[in-house]
Amino acid sequence: MQHRLTFLGIESSCDDTAAAVVRVDDAAQILSSVVEGQVALHAAYGGVVPEIAARAHAERLDGCVDQALQLAGLGFADLDGIAVTSGPGLIGGVLSGVMLAKGLAAGTGLPLIGVNHLAGHALTPRLTDGLAFPYLMLLVSGGHCQFLIVNGPQSFRRIGGTIDDAPGEAFDKTAKLLGLPQPGGPAVEAEAVQGDARRFAFPRPLLDRPGCDMSFSGLKTALLRARDTLIAVQGGLFMQDRRDLCAGFQQAVADVLVEKTQRALTLYLEANPAAPTLAVAGGVAANRAIRTALEATSVAMGVRFTAPPLRLCTDNAAMIAYAGIELFRDGQRDGFGLIARPRWPLDATAPAVLGSGKKGAKA
Ligand code: KG4
Ligand code: ZN
Repeated sequence: MQHRLTFLGIESSCDDTAAAVVRVDDAAQILSSVVEGQVALHAAYGGVVPEIAARAHAERLDGCVDQALQLAGLGFADLDGIAVTSGPGLIGGVLSGVMLAKGLAAGTGLPLIGVNHLAGHALTPRLTDGLAFPYLMLLVSGGHCQFLIVNGPQSFRRIGGTIDDAPGEAFDKTAKLLGLPQPGGPAVEAEAVQGDARRFAFPRPLLDRPGCDMSFSGLKTALLRARDTLIAVQGGLFMQDRRDLCAGFQQAVADVLVEKTQRALTLYLEANPAAPTLAVAGGVAANRAIRTALEATSVAMGVRFTAPPLRLCTDNAAMIAYAGIELFRDGQRDGFGLIARPRWPLDATAPAVLGSGKKGAKA
C-alpha cells in the first residue's frame, strides 16, 4: 500500500485557468477539477492574445483554487503539496500560476513541485487508466504534436512530432478560413461528417520521408487555394463546398496521423515488445474520425489503445496535480527559486523543433 498523497494542481499555460485536487493511494482519484476557459475573451482576435490570457489567469486563478478546495471539501491543512505548471507555455500565464503557487507554498509551508505541462498530458493515462510504464503516447492538441515513449515520470523519449503547426492549430486555421467558429476542431468535424472527403485532393505531407515527423502547415495552404479557386469560379462557397473541404482536410490529417502512428508503434514495439500500449491525449483526440482511425490502427497491430475522457484530454489541472504527486514520489522538490519556462522540451536529447504554435515557440 502506497502512502496516501493529496495535491492541489494549478494550470495556466495557455487559455484555460484551472485548479484541481487529486488524491493517490493505491488508485488515483480526482476530488475536484475546475477549468475556466477563455474562449470568449479571445474570440474577437481569432487566436489567443498572450497579454489578455495572462491578465485573466492572474484575476481568476485564486478563485479557481478556492472553488477546487471547496468542491473537494478540503482545506490547505489536508494537502500534502502544491503542483504548478512551470512551463512550457505563454510566459505571462505560466508566471501567474508559478507566483500564486509560490505564495501558497510560502503561506502554508507545503512542498512546491513545478510540473512540465507536457508531462501532465503524458502521464494522464496513468491517472485515468492506471497504465504501467512504458507506453507510447501520441499527444495531439492545439499546441503540441509529438510521439513520446513514456518510461517514467521524468523519463520521456521523443521519437517524432510536427515540424511546423500542431494538428489542432491546423483545424483552428481551417475553421477561420471557412468562416466557422473557434475552437475550430469541433466545428470542422461537424461539417466533415456531412462532406465528401474524396472531392478535394489534399496533400499528405512528409509521408514520402522516413521517420515519425509530421507537417500540417501545407495542408492549410492547400485548403486556402481550393477555397479561393471555388470563390473565383462560383463567386462564393456553397454549404456542400464547405462540408467537402472540411471532410477532405480532416481525412488528410487522419491519414498522416495513422501512417506516422504505425511507424512510431513499430519503433516502440521493437524496444518494448512486452508493453504494447498506445495512449492518445490532447484536444484533437476528441475527433471521432481520428480517434476511430487510431484505434483501428492499434487493434490491427495488436496494441492496446487508450484515450482519456475528453475533459482530461484537454488542458486541466488534475493532470498537473497527478504529475506533481508522481514527481514528489520520485523525490522532486522545488524551492522558491522555481522559474517559469516558456520552452521546456520533455526530452532534452531530441533535436529542437522549428515553428511556432498556439502556445508560442514549440515545446
Ligand atoms: O489540448 P487542448 O485543449 O489545448 C492545447 O493544449 O492546445 O486542445 C485544443 C485543440 C484546439 O486546437 C481544438 O480545435 C482541437 O484541440 N480540437 C479538435 C476537436 N476538439 C478540439 N480538433 C479536431 N476535432 C475535434 N473534435
Ligand atoms: Zn495542453
